[in-house]
Amino acid sequence: MPPLEDPLLPPPPPSTPCQFHLMNSTFRPRFRFPSAAMVFLWALLLLSFTASYLILVDPGHRSTSLQRNIRSSAEIRRPNGITVLVTGAAGFIGSHVSLALKSRGDGVVGVDNFDNYYGRALKKTRRDLLEFHGVYVVNGDVNDPRLLSMLFETVEFTHVMHLAAQVGVQYAVENPYAYVRSNIASLVTLLEQCKSSDPQPAIVWASSGSVYGAQNKVPFSETDRVDPPTTLYASTKRTGEEITHTYNRLHGLSITGLRFFTVYGPWGRPDMAYFSFIRNILHGKPITMYRAKNRVDLAREFIYIDDIVKGCVASLDTSGKSIGSSGSKNESAPYRIFNLGNGSPVTVPALVTILEENLKMKVEKDVVDMCENGDDSFAYVNISLAERELGFKPTTDLQTGLREFVKWYLWYYGKPLVENRNV
Ligand SMILES: *[C@@H]1O[C@H](CO)[C@@H](O)[C@H](O)[C@H]1NC(C)=O
Ligand SMILES: *[C@@H]1O[C@H](CO)[C@@H](O)[C@H](O)[C@H]1NC(C)=O
Repeated sequence: MPPLEDPLLPPPPPSTPCQFHLMNSTFRPRFRFPSAAMVFLWALLLLSFTASYLILVDPGHRSTSLQRNIRSSAEIRRPNGITVLVTGAAGFIGSHVSLALKSRGDGVVGVDNFDNYYGRALKKTRRDLLEFHGVYVVNGDVNDPRLLSMLFETVEFTHVMHLAAQVGVQYAVENPYAYVRSNIASLVTLLEQCKSSDPQPAIVWASSGSVYGAQNKVPFSETDRVDPPTTLYASTKRTGEEITHTYNRLHGLSITGLRFFTVYGPWGRPDMAYFSFIRNILHGKPITMYRAKNRVDLAREFIYIDDIVKGCVASLDTSGKSIGSSGSKNESAPYRIFNLGNGSPVTVPALVTILEENLKMKVEKDVVDMCENGDDSFAYVNISLAERELGFKPTTDLQTGLREFVKWYLWYYGKPLVENRNV
């Protein structure tokens, strides 16, 4: 799957803005497509404001107002609540997890560097949504140790939900360093901070189902071998599992790694295949569907965002405590890895059909047979460990999940001006 541009084409303003289902609020994304002249004028204005701000206001004042925002976002509003630093908070899973924690009364502080991999517009809208609900998202990089120490000096985090990452498979060919930087270097920076924090937080972080690599044995179980890797993305996630294991053993950090399979739903990532499918259906463009050897349809594990959120929250709740390197020799901090998938794969044509039914449109399909071995043709995951330890039980079937996704998509992007009419 090549990375796709953020498809933020100028849509017509949504005529009947529907309500955001997660928190039952009336949040509306801000669509603005100003002319070039307006952009220039605004930029000029902004520049002069920034300049006068830098001249008139002392830096100390700036940092206290930032810290005030962080502290208020971290406020706990329930008995036995937790305080969570969520990295990648403006991302797909990060924004949903942050809202879920906030809505049950936990303290949540987000951090995100708003990188441009699939466009910044969607991330900024997710950030606006979070701030609407009282979750402050610090614009910064997890790879910046000074930022991390400022955050931990400001708030005593009990947990870190580390979701910031460079995602995507194809992009690694173009820019491998982005993966090393975001998935390995940043992870070490974060672990170093957690190691030296007092008290140490427990860490839950996003690994990936892609670590199973070229394994043919299905279903994938956590105890299976996970090599050889087939992509650089998978290698960096696998490396992350080993690095976190080291920090667990040497420094007593409680670690939970989550191997996510394909997560989909409202506010999802535009670089994912299901996004390009709905775009093509709406714009009347054909969809290319790959088929494994012997004309077998590719099957994938798709899991709905609300189910993943439950898995993430349950991982935080059951994480146990970090014990530090001075912990007594006979106790050890928890080190856990869980598969989080649906446990029942669906074929890509089935998914496309559901999208077509929801949109009441048909799309032309170009079926391409893959010549190489169909190692990657069938993903099927064993989730019994997460079921047992986390009470994880996905309840959203593909029909229901895609219906929610389509609803959101049409609300957010609007219907294209030139519609596909071959119903
Ligand atoms: C660990 O050792 C201490 C004393 O050495 C003992 O009191 C404690 O019960 C032990 N804990 C476990 C889990 O065995
Ligand atoms: C699924 O994983 C569990 C361990 O959590 C294991 O006991 C069981 O055998 C696995 N099932 C299959 C079908 O591989």
